[in-house]
Amino acid sequence: MDSISARRLADLAGDLRGDRPPRYAALAARVRLLVADGRVPLGARLPAERELATALGVSRATVTGAYARLREDGWASARQGAGTFAALPAGPHPGAWVPGPDDGAIDLAHAAPAAPPEVAAAFAAAAAELPRFLPGHGYHPAGLPDLRARIAERYTVRGLPTAPEEVLVTAGALHGVGLALAALLRPGRGLLVEQPTYPNALDAARALGARLLPTALDPEAPWEWLDTAEGALRTVRPPAAYLMPDFQNPTGVLLGAAGRERLAGAVARAGTTAVVDETLAELGLDALPPAPFAAFAPGTLSVGSLSKVFWGGLRIGWVRAGADVVQRLTALSARSTMSGPVVEQLAACMLLDGIEASLEGARERLRERRSALREALAERLPQWRVTEPAGGLVLWCRLPAPRSSAIVVEAERRGLRLAAGPLFGTGHALDDRLRLPYTQPVEVLRRAVAVLADADAAAAGGGQRDGVPGVDLVV
Ligand SMILES: Cc1ncc(COP(=O)(O)O)c(C=O)c1O
Repeated sequence: MDSISARRLADLAGDLRGDRPPRYAALAARVRLLVADGRVPLGARLPAERELATALGVSRATVTGAYARLREDGWASARQGAGTFAALPAGPHPGAWVPGPDDGAIDLAHAAPAAPPEVAAAFAAAAAELPRFLPGHGYHPAGLPDLRARIAERYTVRGLPTAPEEVLVTAGALHGVGLALAALLRPGRGLLVEQPTYPNALDAARALGARLLPTALDPEAPWEWLDTAEGALRTVRPPAAYLMPDFQNPTGVLLGAAGRERLAGAVARAGTTAVVDETLAELGLDALPPAPFAAFAPGTLSVGSLSKVFWGGLRIGWVRAGADVVQRLTALSARSTMSGPVVEQLAACMLLDGIEASLEGARERLRERRSALREALAERLPQWRVTEPAGGLVLWCRLPAPRSSAIVVEAERRGLRLAAGPLFGTGHALDDRLRLPYTQPVEVLRRAVAVLADADAAAAGGGQRDGVPGVDLVV
């Protein structure tokens, strides 16, 4: 059974001084957040009270009180003589970072757009097509041939000639990332990641026992990341790197052609295999990406998805790689899933046939929502610095003080779900950052920012004063 050290839990919990008193309740709220989003694994043994108290610099009574509160609320269980263990209460909490139930709360934790009308139309057309497939067995472990062909064609249009044999259809991008990492990593092997990055990829890598090598990516100085990544690749030579050159989630940074060339060279010299997550690549709002990274670094495993252009409920994604690698990944995937569903893949074919028109609509919607969110933030939270991404789905905000975890707790009390900054990193850093998606309709975003401003004031009023004076810039 996993256990979590006092040092690690103290790092993840962060600085409690800004939180609403009493301190034991603030600590319980932080731990609850960590269990709910999977950063503290279910069933993990929590540290001994005395050790955690020392690591946090609080009294032992504070930890005793926090553990008692967690047990009362179902977030921990105690076994006589064995310790206290992370648990989930009955209800909607997933214990992993996935969208919560549609229960009336506003969800700005996840960047998951509602389906546009063409999704329902594609399913109707797919149902009409289905009889053609019913006489067969229906199993296509690498994906429906028609869909593999269309995905390959889309890569070719985007500047990377691709054959259907170089495509494996997966149940969404995360499935693809999981397969790619599982093929490349063993316990203790290094994975270079951008910091911040996509939390579920970090989780997948941790589950494989990978050693994470974070490389800081600051959207205000993105070129510095290339130097850092080159240096890390040269000195550590990790077997794999998980990268998002196309509107990086969450910073929105887009790597240009020259940057791709440099990175491809560094990856090749280090003998590192890049797993490139292209989930957001089609969502250029002010600029379009150059050719896919694999056009620069041929050994790359590219992962894509229809979740963000169309709908997450489709569960259609893919991995593009050499035909031999695709064969290996297919075998790996078939072990747990056998094959994907036929109707969804037929619908995906229809959707890809009309992708240009769909993209026009999606980009238009997102531009409007991005402007509305930025304007609302400038009005209600002018001391926050907000990125201006050329694409993707999210703003990455820099707060005047490290209080994003405290804001998440306050916002949840007010019916607004958020994801705390540290979730996007490998440790306790990034509590001065908050990711805000602009996937919801404009009026929802405005309501959300009003709640957010309230939550921020409550978090800031908990005792901590803003530490960075004079930050009034909305960039
Ligand atoms: C960068 C990135 N990768 C992967 C995913 C997961 O996508 P899917 O729904 O296709 O599994 C997401 C969704 O939020 C994402 O932002």
